[in-house]
Amino acid sequence: MRLAGRTILITGGSAGIGLAFALKFLELANEVIVTGRRQALLNQVKAKFPKLHTIQSDVADPAQISALAARVKADFPKLDVLMNNAGMMLYKNLRAPAADLAGLMAEMNVNVGGVISTTSAFIDILKANKGTVINTSSALAFVPLPSAPIYSATKAAIHSYTQSLRFQLEETGVEVIEIMPPWVKTGMTAEVPEGDGITMITTDELIRQSFASLKAGALEIRPGQSKQLAFLRRLAPDFINGQLWKMSKKLVPVGA
Ligand SMILES: NC(=O)c1ccc[n+]([C@@H]2O[C@H](COP(=O)([O-])OP(=O)(O)OC[C@H]3O[C@@H](n4cnc5c(N)ncnc54)[C@H](OP(=O)(O)O)[C@@H]3O)[C@@H](O)[C@H]2O)c1
Repeated sequence: MRLAGRTILITGGSAGIGLAFALKFLELANEVIVTGRRQALLNQVKAKFPKLHTIQSDVADPAQISALAARVKADFPKLDVLMNNAGMMLYKNLRAPAADLAGLMAEMNVNVGGVISTTSAFIDILKANKGTVINTSSALAFVPLPSAPIYSATKAAIHSYTQSLRFQLEETGVEVIEIMPPWVKTGMTAEVPEGDGITMITTDELIRQSFASLKAGALEIRPGQSKQLAFLRRLAPDFINGQLWKMSKKLVPVGA
C-alpha cells in the first residue's frame, strides 16, 4: 500500500487502534479523517491533534453512514482510503435467554453491518480514486473466543466478506487489505486479565508490525499471536479451540 499522500477515513478513529493508525498516517504526510459516536471524545482528540479531521458518526446507523459519505465526498474529493475499524466486543452468556433480543444484535450491526454499509456508501469514490479498503477484523476470525461468541462470529464474517470484496474489486484498481490484530491494549480490552495464555501487545507494537507489512504490500496482515492462531487452527484445531475456551471461561458473565 502507498503510505503517503493519501486521504484516509478511519471509522472508530477517536480511540485505541483506530487513533493509533490515524496518528501514524498523519506522521506519514496523509490527510486523515476520523469518526466516532462520542462528540466529547472527538473534541478531545481534535484539541490534542489539530491536524486530524473529526466527524461524529455511528456505523450502526445507515442514515448516519449516508450523511457521512455525502459530507466526506463533498469536503474531501480525493478520499482514497477507507479503514473500517469501528467495532465493539461484548462477553455473552449463551446459556441464559437474552433480556433484549435487539441488543443481542448490537455487535452484528456495528462490526458487520457497519463495515458492509460503509464500504458500499464509499465504493464509488474509492473506485474513482483507485483507492484502498482496510478492514480491521481480528485473530478471532480464525478461532473463536467462546466468551465473546457473537464478536468472534462477526470477525469471521468480516474475514469472509473481505476475501469476496477483494475478488470483486480486483479489476477496479481498488486494493483490499485486512488487518487481523491479536490482543491489543485498548479500551476494548481494559477488563481482560493478562496471563493464562492471554498476551497483549501495545498499539505502538501493532502499528510497528502492521506498517512494516503494509509497506511490504501485504494484503492480509496477521501481527503477533495472530500468525500463530492462523497456523494452529489448521494444525490442531481441536486443541486451539479448547485452549481459547479454557482461557476465556472466566469472562462469561454470570446469569443473563
Ligand atoms: N483491542 C483488541 O485486542 C483488538 C483485537 C482485534 C481486533 N480489534 C478490532 O479493532 C477495532 C478497534 O478496536 P479497539 O480495541 O481500538 O477498540 P476501542 O479502544 O474500544 O475503540 C473503538 C473506537 O470505535 C469507536 N466506535 C465504537 N462503536 C462505534 C460505532 N457504532 N460507530 C462509530 N464508531 C464507533 C469508538 O468511539 P465511540 O465509542 O465514541 O463511538 C472508538 O473510537 C475493532 O474493530 C476491534 O474489534 C481489537
